[in-house]
Amino acid sequence: MAYDFNKIAHSYDRLNHLMTAGLDIAWRRKAAKAVTAGHNMPIEVLDVACGTGDLSIALSMRKCHVAGVDLSEEMLGVAINKAEQLDNEFIRPTFDIANAEHLPYPDNTFDAVTCAFGVRNFVHLDVGLKEMIRVIKPTGRIVILELSTPDNPLLRPFYNLYSRHIIPLLGKVIASNREAYTYLPNSIEHFPKGDTFIKCMMNAGAVSATQRKLTLGVCRMYTATKPNSSVSI
Ligand SMILES: C[S@@+](CC[C@H](N)C(=O)[O-])C[C@H]1O[C@@H](n2cnc3c(N)ncnc32)[C@H](O)[C@@H]1O
Repeated sequence: MAYDFNKIAHSYDRLNHLMTAGLDIAWRRKAAKAVTAGHNMPIEVLDVACGTGDLSIALSMRKCHVAGVDLSEEMLGVAINKAEQLDNEFIRPTFDIANAEHLPYPDNTFDAVTCAFGVRNFVHLDVGLKEMIRVIKPTGRIVILELSTPDNPLLRPFYNLYSRHIIPLLGKVIASNREAYTYLPNSIEHFPKGDTFIKCMMNAGAVSATQRKLTLGVCRMYTATKPNSSVSI
């Protein structure tokens, strides 16, 4: 069963920025840049598992037309409030409830699909990835951000201390929810990373999948394209 983000929606942003010392903002900016690089704006982007909307908004600020979807009504409520503050020069993202594993769009709809820190929470990763690729236009781009454990063995003891002890403590103090922030490091440790995740993208039908380690590999940006000949997967 998917973790219910409704419970932590109102402290999610604060804790995210605190736990990553603000790096999550820079990671999403890099993802938005990877989406728009080489494109004539505007392009149509679907932001899957958009949560409180930070990546959707970063994409809007780069002149994309963005549809954000998520399972959690409370997370979307925060996103809608944030988008209302967006300067009038930008087209506001639209936000709707939808399941990444059954996206309510026809094949080949979007120029790009993004997902920041969402795929780790899918119940069926393969189904979600196939759905994301299905709705992209042929040759369109998929950009995924996901947290991961660093490869460097020298960093592991520090990473483990931080993720297993400090993060759950911060969750307890700030979100009054130790459980959610125990789930977070556990889910990161058990989720495919690097080349293994790239294989998952290729198995779902993507081509030219690559990864870029951000901040010593505690976050990775995966990019891939939909093949030109792909009609339905
Ligand atoms: C860790 S948050 C990430 C939110 C946001 N993308 C960000 O950059 O902070 C994960 C989000 O994935 C959503 N989610 C999990 N499974 C989903 C699914 N199957 N379909 C749509 N959203 C899903 C959750 O509701 C939650 O808002």
